[in-house]
Amino acid sequence: MSYNLLKGKKGIIFGALDNKSIAWKVAEKAHAEGAVFTLSNTPTAQRFGMLSELAEKTNSEIILADATSVADLTNVFNKSMEILGGKVDFVLHSIGMSLNVRKKRVYNDLDYNFLNKTLDISAVSFHKMLQVAFKLNAINDWGSVVALSYIAAQRTHYGYNDMADAKALLESIARSFGYIYGRERKIRVNTISQSPTRTTAGSGVKGVEGLIDFTDRMSPLGNADADECADYCLVLFSDLTKKVTMQNLYHDGGFSNMGMSQRAMTMYNKSLDLPDDIIP
Ligand SMILES: NC(=O)c1ccc[n+]([C@@H]2O[C@H](COP(=O)([O-])OP(=O)(O)OC[C@H]3O[C@@H](n4cnc5c(N)ncnc54)[C@H](O)[C@@H]3O)[C@@H](O)[C@H]2O)c1
Repeated sequence: MSYNLLKGKKGIIFGALDNKSIAWKVAEKAHAEGAVFTLSNTPTAQRFGMLSELAEKTNSEIILADATSVADLTNVFNKSMEILGGKVDFVLHSIGMSLNVRKKRVYNDLDYNFLNKTLDISAVSFHKMLQVAFKLNAINDWGSVVALSYIAAQRTHYGYNDMADAKALLESIARSFGYIYGRERKIRVNTISQSPTRTTAGSGVKGVEGLIDFTDRMSPLGNADADECADYCLVLFSDLTKKVTMQNLYHDGGFSNMGMSQRAMTMYNKSLDLPDDIIP
């Protein structure tokens, strides 16, 4: 169902790789809600992913960029304003990658070159994006910028590795730049802390299937999926959330405020061979 929530709005969506990507769902839904936008990802992602299919489907142009390159990002914002005929109203940063995770380097045996890359790709790229947009004055007043985060920024999650540090930095950048952007241009900057989700990036996390089951049992509303995450992004891009900024917003079915749930305890007791009726 469409509400025309983003009618007349222009945007840039970074990070759609394939039809499982959160950014892919955001693009589909933003298109349905009346927005026009450009899509950006790396040349490798375009080669191995399905970006062209999404561009066709949503009638958008692709601008290739490595989000760690200020020159590439400058080109994305300049070209987007050219293509869309003016400044943008929303930007999605849906980018994450850790070579330490990929190469199975554990947290007490990190490769520091990989760590630098993790931080640059997954967090500093957000600062670069905001700084480029700020200097180019590329976002309209009351615009909205959203990046995707994960609760490992606040609480240790086995297997999330150096991505936890990247997400903590990402959320801090949202606050620090959110202050400046709010003060100077009335532009919102937020992060959404999403449930574990079956995507290419999500599947790289150690033990992800068990984690998805665990968080689902722990969350009173169950895990939030990629479609639901996209819905939340759209609300934050819309004019319905004009005074929401500098926030890390949990989108996790309640997981972040849980200590132990009945469903998770039942499983735990089963594994210990305890009766599951001891919970009131
Ligand atoms: N999947 C989950 O469980 C989950 C949970 C919480 C938050 N997130 C976050 O959501 C965001 C999107 O991930 P996803 O789950 O949709 O997976 P995804 O693999 O579909 O998306 C990750 C994207 O990052 C892009 N990327 C990697 N390096 C890049 C670079 N140098 N420049 C530009 N783009 C680059 C990839 O090409 C890909 O499109 C990430 O920030 C991720 O950490 C994911």
